[in-house]
Amino acid sequence: MSEKKVSAVITGVGMYVPEKVLDNAYFESIVDTTDEWIRTRTGISERRILENGATSNLAAEAAKDLLKSKNMKAEEIEVIIVATVTPDMFFPATACLVQEKIGANNAWGFDLSAACSGFLFAYQTGCSLIESGKYKKVLVIGADKMSSIVDYTDRNNCILFGDAGAAILLEPTNDTSIGYQDSLLRIDGSGKEILNMKGGGSLNPPSHETVDKGMHYIFQDGKTVFKFAVKGMAEVSLDIMQKNGLKSEDIAYLVPHQANLRIINATAERMGIDKEKVMININKYGNTTAATIPLCLVEYYRDGKLKKGDKIILAAFGAGYTWGASYLVWGM
Ligand code: UT7
Repeated sequence: MSEKKVSAVITGVGMYVPEKVLDNAYFESIVDTTDEWIRTRTGISERRILENGATSNLAAEAAKDLLKSKNMKAEEIEVIIVATVTPDMFFPATACLVQEKIGANNAWGFDLSAACSGFLFAYQTGCSLIESGKYKKVLVIGADKMSSIVDYTDRNNCILFGDAGAAILLEPTNDTSIGYQDSLLRIDGSGKEILNMKGGGSLNPPSHETVDKGMHYIFQDGKTVFKFAVKGMAEVSLDIMQKNGLKSEDIAYLVPHQANLRIINATAERMGIDKEKVMININKYGNTTAATIPLCLVEYYRDGKLKKGDKIILAAFGAGYTWGASYLVWGM
């Protein structure tokens, strides 16, 4: 690897999940499903739903939680990157709305659209800004209000998703043995037919017809996504481990995107990673798209399970297709 002068290290974390819980019994009451099917086919027991507000609320609350835990002023933040597929509006960017909500008066920023790989792509982008030497405090947020694009009459999809936001702060350190080490990220637009939301954009501008056809909801061919997700996440994760001379026993944690417990288990198995080294909270939150990976990091760190020096692989797969893996050494 090329010699770096500084490494981008995570120096703060924050999260927000809404109070309202939808458990599997609720879905038994609205679609033809069972708690048993949902738990055994997906690993999900409940998910959180934001009743009032939008993605910027989830993101801003996560940012405020981070700032409070670090006793840090919002004015210190230089860049805000919000990974999301459920922006409050097409424009302005959700990052602008977060900036205003938290009072980050010296920041610029933008939204990043990469679906379930959004946090991974935003993390890489934030780390590159830090390693460029130009920025010293970059806030990276993954947030999605998936309930705003879920069809609650479609049992294939509605049981899967939840709402959440989670944030990390990136800062430079001269100790290059910690923090960001490497990433392998990929996109492949041939996946566009398999997982998408067709309505509302410039291809299918909003009309009575797009609404009548339910084109503003998530569409996916779940089985195909499932296969690509396991293959894609395991391949890039093994590649990044090999590239960095890592064996499975060197890894403290695999942090996979939380889409389905069966995808997570199959990925970990292909990588030879023991089950106890895999971060999992899909049972409590479902698939929160861009928020799943940082939400895991925050919970495991705050539970004291994540220690300075731990070698971690983040892995995600999502619409696009988008996928990838990042290797970092925990630095807090
Ligand atoms: O992060 C975004 C990317 N998305 C994903 O990663 C999702 C990936 N895919 C999956 O997680 C799984 O494919 C699903 C959870 C979506 C579906 O699980 P599956 O084991 O692949 O089920 P399936 O689609 O093969 O369906 C099996 C059966 C079908 O019934 P028939 O045709 O065999 O009679 C479905 O209609 O299960 C039925 N089914 C349900 N039954 C009860 C589908 N959803 C439900 C449900 N409750 N909620």
